[in-house]
Amino acid sequence: MERATTAWIAAGASIAALLTAWLAIAHPSAPITERGRSAGIATTAEAGPQAYRQPLVTLDAAQRRQFVEGQRIVDATWVLFWFESGEWGAGPTMNARACAECHVRGGRGAPVVDGDRVRPMIVRLSIPGVDRHGGPKPHPEYGEQFQTFGVPGVVAEEGRVELAWETSSVDLADGERVELRRPVVSFRDLRFGPLGDGLMTSPRVPPSLVGMGLLDAVPDETLRALAAREPEDGIRGRVNEVWDIAARRVAVGRFGHKANVPNLRQQVAAAFSGDIGVSSDHFPEQNCPGAQQDCREFMPAGRPELGQLRWKAVEFHLRAGAVPARRNVEDPDVVRGEALFAAARCAVCHVPELKTGDVPSLPALSGQVIRPYTDLLLHDLGEGLADGRPDFTAGPRDWRTPALWGLGLAQIVNGVTTYLHDGRARTLTEAILWHGGEAEAARERFRNMPRDERAALLAFLGSL
Ligand code: HEC
Ligand code: HEC
Repeated sequence: MERATTAWIAAGASIAALLTAWLAIAHPSAPITERGRSAGIATTAEAGPQAYRQPLVTLDAAQRRQFVEGQRIVDATWVLFWFESGEWGAGPTMNARACAECHVRGGRGAPVVDGDRVRPMIVRLSIPGVDRHGGPKPHPEYGEQFQTFGVPGVVAEEGRVELAWETSSVDLADGERVELRRPVVSFRDLRFGPLGDGLMTSPRVPPSLVGMGLLDAVPDETLRALAAREPEDGIRGRVNEVWDIAARRVAVGRFGHKANVPNLRQQVAAAFSGDIGVSSDHFPEQNCPGAQQDCREFMPAGRPELGQLRWKAVEFHLRAGAVPARRNVEDPDVVRGEALFAAARCAVCHVPELKTGDVPSLPALSGQVIRPYTDLLLHDLGEGLADGRPDFTAGPRDWRTPALWGLGLAQIVNGVTTYLHDGRARTLTEAILWHGGEAEAARERFRNMPRDERAALLAFLGSL
């Protein structure tokens, strides 16, 4: 009886989830102005909480079903045992049970202490040296990512992460003082011995998932050409040369805060493996390094746990997502802010316009003029932001220029308005003031702006 009830509840819940997913697909009403068109035909007028997860309008019925199925899996809870309701295959160690725990409604994540866990921040680990593909060398006992959850009573989590903040301040030219904070991460309850000397750590928060398919569709040659430009303002971007698992070769990196992942398909598999503990053809092994014997003995949900259907559905969901249109583009402050963004040379890295290449499987993504405000390249942003941890050819002070589209809707989508790779910036002003290294001159131009110009620049960012 009890099992039947559970099954009914589970069935009811999944029907409800499906309905919610369908309802969440709004039908654009407000017309999109030409200047507000962030991604050509792949732009959506939706500006509410679901703005980051709208399907391309061109999808046919079968593709819409796949989009919804992908969204269902992104939202689904992954479980440890076959008899629990949810998708089976989480763990044995992990950082969360669902993509949507960290990317709420496709949005960014803040570094917060939730009960006794720091979430949804993850901490990357490595020791000096490189792996056989030139990537970071995992810690022998803790691997490449610190796992804060295990199977209660069966498989130990690796330990706990503690988060403290160190503050400093910057004076703007007009006398205003801005307090900055940076995270100091430490570990406790380490289950597999001390982390040892030479450990390198990199705390990271989830970026938003806006426009992943379009960024994936920007040709490698475009990134190489951007990297080969004559330096302007002392700025020269670099591509990260990373390992493409499927192609078994070195490829141009573009996803992740250090652009250490070459394409969307691999990024999805990496997230399943690293964050939720779900194995796939790309990551066939459970995440059980060194002495983690209980972890290795835990029964997997399959070999691999992520079948092609679910993998493809999630990939499709991310690939076929539209980008929110800009709002208030005619507002005089926004127009002025856009000019100031160019004049301060922010746009050298946050490149306003790119063009996608051919995407035979989804023609709506092909040949689109997109306005992501990124060059997808690595830049040295100085010592203040450095994690000190190389990642393929990305150096210890390098970060990939993040896309800025959708930025102004962060509050509406999931209420998270913290910025930068570790979420240290509580406002856009703080985010800009952390820019150093190659971006130091641009930051100084911002710091020296009169108050009304800063406000205009921020208004422009808010319109993205
Ligand atoms: C524990 C939190 C967490 C979970 C769970 C999680 N992610 Fe992420 N996600 C992150 C973080 C942190 C990054 C940045 C990683 C980096 O810099 O290497 C990221 C990056 C990404 C990116 C690249 C974004 C970009 O702009 O480059 C994609 C795509 C992504 N995640 C998709 C997923 C999917 C799909 C799932 C579920 C299978 C998932 N994530 C689960 C935290 C999470
Ligand atoms: C040299 C290249 C470069 C220049 C110039 C530059 N940026 Fe950035 N920007 C970056 C990189 C790289 C990051 C990511 C840093 C990190 O995550 O720690 C970033 C992050 C940001 C973010 C946070 C985005 C997010 O999603 O967290 C904002 C906002 C931003 N930049 C705005 C600006 C503005 C405004 C200017 C001009 C005053 C500017 N940037 C100039 C490279 C640059």
